[in-house]
Amino acid sequence: MEFLVIIFLIFYLLNHLQENCVSGCMKSSDPTKNVGSYDAFTPSPRKEAWWLEKHLSHVEHSQKNFENIKLLFLGDSITHEWNEDGNYTFHKYYAKYNAANYGVPADRTQHLLWRIRNGEIHNLNPLMVVLLIGTNNFGHNKDMEIFKGVKAIVIELRRRLPHSKILLLGILPRSTDTATKRVNAINKLIMQLDDDLMVWFFDLGRYFYIEDHLVTELYHQDLLHLSSKGYETWAFAMAPVMREMMEIIFESE
Ligand SMILES: *[C@@H]1O[C@H](CO)[C@@H](O)[C@H](O)[C@H]1NC(C)=O
Repeated sequence: MEFLVIIFLIFYLLNHLQENCVSGCMKSSDPTKNVGSYDAFTPSPRKEAWWLEKHLSHVEHSQKNFENIKLLFLGDSITHEWNEDGNYTFHKYYAKYNAANYGVPADRTQHLLWRIRNGEIHNLNPLMVVLLIGTNNFGHNKDMEIFKGVKAIVIELRRRLPHSKILLLGILPRSTDTATKRVNAINKLIMQLDDDLMVWFFDLGRYFYIEDHLVTELYHQDLLHLSSKGYETWAFAMAPVMREMMEIIFESE
């Protein structure tokens, strides 16, 4: 028995020490080490200290602003960078909704699923949630698993935010034609989650991929993350559908 306790302590300490990286964690060169579970549809926290801190900062922001947040962005680094390259556009279009941005770099479906089950959306009542997730699952999950991960998130959002509309965005075209083919295949699956009422699927892809080519000026050099022009395009493309969803919201109130 004591032996087991000691073994447990050793494991705990090893794990804990590993987490204590202070800087550079975000751009860690080994993205697989801290990922938690590889299963796309079982909620899983990541192990980096910065990740937990970021999660807790979202929880705190929600606790302080739950009455005011009318628009909520959920996703990975592409959503997170609304705070960086997208900052100007974000404020211009979304400040009036007290929009909250809970995008976390490198997050996969299972991590976002864990975050929303652990306080980030507690007591919120946004008019709309903009959800873009799944591209970081590509290396480790099959298309159907990624679909199930996105689906689990949508179900969780509907359960916890029953009055909020969900604008489910298609995964953005990326890097190579092969990757973009996968993007399209997965989008065909997640499109099925559109219920024409509370969950709307919207694909930005045709603005970012024209005549079989990525529109490179909308991307960074990695052809995954977006430039400030990319964020302008996102906001511009999404504006009509947001307006339409909002109108339906106001009519039904
Ligand atoms: C983002 O824009 C807001 C409003 O224009 C500004 O106050 C803030 O400093 C900007 N943040 C960054 C990281 O550029």
